Amino acid sequence: MNELITIKNLSKTFNKVEAVKDVSFKIKKGEFLGIQGHSGSGKSTLLGLLAGLEKANSGKITYNGSDLTNMNEDELALFRRENVGVVFQSFNLIPTLNIIENIALPLFPLNISKNEMIERARKIAKDVGLSHRLTHYANELSGGEQQRVAIARALINNPKVLFADEPTGNLDSKTGKKIIELLKELNREKELTVVMVTHDNEIAKNSDRIIEMKDGGVIR
Ligand SMILES: Nc1ncnc2c1ncn2[C@@H]1O[C@H](COP(=O)(O)OP(=O)(O)OP(=O)(O)O)[C@@H](O)[C@H]1O
Ligand SMILES: [Mg+2]
Repeated sequence: MNELITIKNLSKTFNKVEAVKDVSFKIKKGEFLGIQGHSGSGKSTLLGLLAGLEKANSGKITYNGSDLTNMNEDELALFRRENVGVVFQSFNLIPTLNIIENIALPLFPLNISKNEMIERARKIAKDVGLSHRLTHYANELSGGEQQRVAIARALINNPKVLFADEPTGNLDSKTGKKIIELLKELNREKELTVVMVTHDNEIAKNSDRIIEMKDGGVIR
């Protein structure tokens, strides 16, 4: 497998807290990577840096050779749109939009007809097993269904990498397993690279490789 992301001596400090400290590793194309570590060890911060949502203080992140850390805001926004999908622990759905609209949300700023938006959202909804719920509102769905909507929304622009921060953290273990199965299926069948933060050992076992963080550093 070839390399997709190279992280070199990456650091991020908030005021005086060194949230991510001199971290270096590589992520391969098509890999399912788990990131583990205690609360406060820097997992979410690292994910935010890799997804281009936060700026590093020092170090380098390259995707297929192009340097994320040198990009300005506009370049970053374009980069994120073309490469990255993010799923958060809390689903972050818009309650006043129905499912299909929530999934299509990242397409709103693009120059795409409403019909095409709906068509694309419908297709992704099918991929994540949501076809029967398209006109429901977010608060009418179970936790597992809401997480599926969040995953569909993250996939709508056909990203190369999906970053998931505790995607099963708000779900019971049975529903959590189903979400993991979905992520694994997407990883296998669409060759989507998945980077997943979890502090659940059982969930982490689904990864091809696990990186463990402690006090901002990678210890394993
Ligand atoms: N915006 C911020 N401002 C100040 N400090 C922050 C900020 N974000 C994170 N931190 C600090 O950075 C450290 C790492 O936080 P981070 O959220 O990355 O941890 P985490 O490993 O994701 O923890 P958890 O498992 O609880 O989600 C913590 O000490 C946290 O308090
Ligand atoms: Mg976190």
